[in-house]
Amino acid sequence: MTANRSFEFNTVPSLQVEWSGAKRLAEILAARFAARNALVVTDAGLVKAGVVAPIAAGLKAGGFAVSVFDAIVADPPESVLAQCVEQGRAAKVDIVIGLGGGSSLDVAKLAAVLLKSPQALSAMAGIGNVKGDRLPLALIPTTAGTGSEVTNISIITTGATTKTGVVSPQLYCDYVLLDGELTIGLPPLHTAATGIDAMVHAIEAYTGRHKKNPISDALGREALRMLGGSLVAACKDGRNRAARENMLMGATLAGQAFANSPVGAVHALAYPLGGHYHVAHGLSNALMLGPVLRFNATAAAALYAELADVLLGPGTGTTRQRCDAFVAGMEKLMNDSGAPRRLREVGVTEDSLTMLAADAIKQQRLLINNPVDVTEADALALYREAF
Ligand SMILES: NC(=O)c1ccc[n+]([C@@H]2O[C@H](COP(=O)([O-])OP(=O)(O)OC[C@H]3O[C@@H](n4cnc5c(N)ncnc54)[C@H](O)[C@@H]3O)[C@@H](O)[C@H]2O)c1
Ligand SMILES: [Fe+2]
Repeated sequence: MTANRSFEFNTVPSLQVEWSGAKRLAEILAARFAARNALVVTDAGLVKAGVVAPIAAGLKAGGFAVSVFDAIVADPPESVLAQCVEQGRAAKVDIVIGLGGGSSLDVAKLAAVLLKSPQALSAMAGIGNVKGDRLPLALIPTTAGTGSEVTNISIITTGATTKTGVVSPQLYCDYVLLDGELTIGLPPLHTAATGIDAMVHAIEAYTGRHKKNPISDALGREALRMLGGSLVAACKDGRNRAARENMLMGATLAGQAFANSPVGAVHALAYPLGGHYHVAHGLSNALMLGPVLRFNATAAAALYAELADVLLGPGTGTTRQRCDAFVAGMEKLMNDSGAPRRLREVGVTEDSLTMLAADAIKQQRLLINNPVDVTEADALALYREAF
């Protein structure tokens, strides 16, 4: 788990940070793209929160034709992606704008590909299997969480419960707008869960077994500093502008880190909770983080000790003591955030833990990055600890 000295780093070509920037989206996009017929991919919760209407109106006033697809649901299934592509095709759109949390952005990314280069989703699954190019793509996150705006990953639910990952360079978008104002209405519980997801991205990228490198390390550390310093403030007062901006920036930095040094066992064990129980992605990560940190501490103590200095400020003690301080610091943050802390509190039943463990072990794409090997028996013990 030493950082690679020979590596490749990729990210999106352009990222703009601007409070209230969404208000002048038409002007921004018109200056960058020739396209004027937009598909806005979003969800009904954001429409209800009043985020979508002013943006759509602003685009129209700025000369864009706009088709809004607002049927995205959490852990989006393949059928919703197909409907989204169908709507975009009928409207003959020439640019895709993802506006929302990770669920909306993940679908927007794949829709931009499928509208230009039709391919079966099953053939795109896995790493590097997307064949064609895509329509122009702009992403505007409204949660400070997944980092999907800067990753080359889309997660789609296939069949009844399986989370399928598509990882390909075409999924890096052309342009990201980080407008913290859009996150003001994100309720406290979602703020907590999505913020912890982002912190997990930073931590897991930092302890990645194969792809950790000096750039992902720098991004992960700065992400953890910004997110750790603002999570509780953003949960307590959603209108705290500085906290909202730090969370959004931190989540994006963490996204850039894990796009290049992928996540590990926390995510592998979180996915079955989303698939089977529809526990929100961020919350399922929060529930598994404590047990996995303690499990990984055997191999990752020195790295967790480094992260203790980032999260809590410089301190003294042995490596093991600093590692324990980091784990305790993360537990305290999660307690203070108000997020549920045990699987039993979110509807998971004890008799399903063996099934969850069998499912988690299928996420080898992620488990290979974990600093410690995870067997099915380990996974079961981790779910028991989280229960
Ligand atoms: N592509 C990636 O790299 C990546 C990484 C991690 C997770 N994911 C995926 O992302 C999805 C989770 O995304 P998420 O955690 O951002 O949640 P989400 O997109 O599912 O949104 C959660 C809820 O928050 C609401 N919401 C979002 N922003 C809001 C705002 N500003 N104001 C009011 N309400 C708002 C939405 O309406 C929705 O009901 C999962 O499907 C997960 O698998 C993708
Ligand atoms: Fe995540």
